[in-house]
Amino acid sequence: MLKKVLAGIGAGALLFGLTACGGGDGEGGADEGLVVGFAQVGAESAWRTANSTSVQDAAAADDRIAELKFVDAQQEQERQISAIRDFITQQVDVIVLAPVVETGWTDVLQEAEDAGIPVILADRGIEAADEDLYTTRLGSDFVAEGRSAGEWAVQTFADDADGTKILELQGTTGSAPANDRNAGFFEVLDAEGLNYELVDSQSGNFTAEEGKAVMETFITTHALDGIDLLYAHNDEMGLGAIQAIEEAGFKPGEDIQIIIVDGSKAGFQAGVDGKLNYIVECNPVFGEQLMDVVVQVANGDDVEKFTPVEEGVFDATQFEAELPNRQF
Ligand code: AHR
Repeated sequence: MLKKVLAGIGAGALLFGLTACGGGDGEGGADEGLVVGFAQVGAESAWRTANSTSVQDAAAADDRIAELKFVDAQQEQERQISAIRDFITQQVDVIVLAPVVETGWTDVLQEAEDAGIPVILADRGIEAADEDLYTTRLGSDFVAEGRSAGEWAVQTFADDADGTKILELQGTTGSAPANDRNAGFFEVLDAEGLNYELVDSQSGNFTAEEGKAVMETFITTHALDGIDLLYAHNDEMGLGAIQAIEEAGFKPGEDIQIIIVDGSKAGFQAGVDGKLNYIVECNPVFGEQLMDVVVQVANGDDVEKFTPVEEGVFDATQFEAELPNRQF
């Protein structure tokens, strides 16, 4: 069976690419294998690259999948919408969407439904109002991740008599992980009655460059004296912030404690080096599980509305032992 995994094509080039390679028949052609369109967020982090590789490798190795049409949307919703419209034109069997942000999907998802093409959300979710417009979501429970970060903060700073001063580096504005990691974290702090002050909170768009730039602004605006904790919504922003903290002459992990979310090799190495204090895992390696869901959905099987992937948490006593196990 001919398999084509189209990697790294832009949304603009997609229509030509699909025409040249031939699309699916939109009828869940199990005999020939399924044609799947995947509108990925981008390549903003090690997490994202590992996720793309996991999905592409799983599709290539799976005889039930004839072709995966992969679009890197470069963190732009418009590119994802355009990719979905191209997938509809080409009558793929199933559309997989990792939505950049939570809102703004109603029209295009309605178009997919009208065309009879099921949509699976991978990784990120969308607003509840559009829940009927996708079949299922496979990915992380981002609220639970935020709660895990909050529980560690409460344990660590419970005895901080002056009140715990916190900086937050949020992910992409309007994205599910940014909204949910924020909500889960502060829900726990408030519920547990931690005496804290959120000194500043800004988006670093899940990238190292923007995380570093925002941290530099935090340092200029607030200095770091008296700041207890930086909560970074992903590894890249945390690692960028660590650079900014060091360049300003402070010791990350000591002068300011740091939580990151993801758990890449680089993140764990920073933990081993004593530069950060807590890692909440976000697991990108669900490609094989996703292919099973794609086949179930194409077959019209009943599936759960949301399937969370397994994730753990790691403190400083665990970083060294865990580092060799990291897959990305
Ligand atoms: O949606 C998952 C998040 O997206 C990861 O935490 C982050 O690294 C990525 O950009």
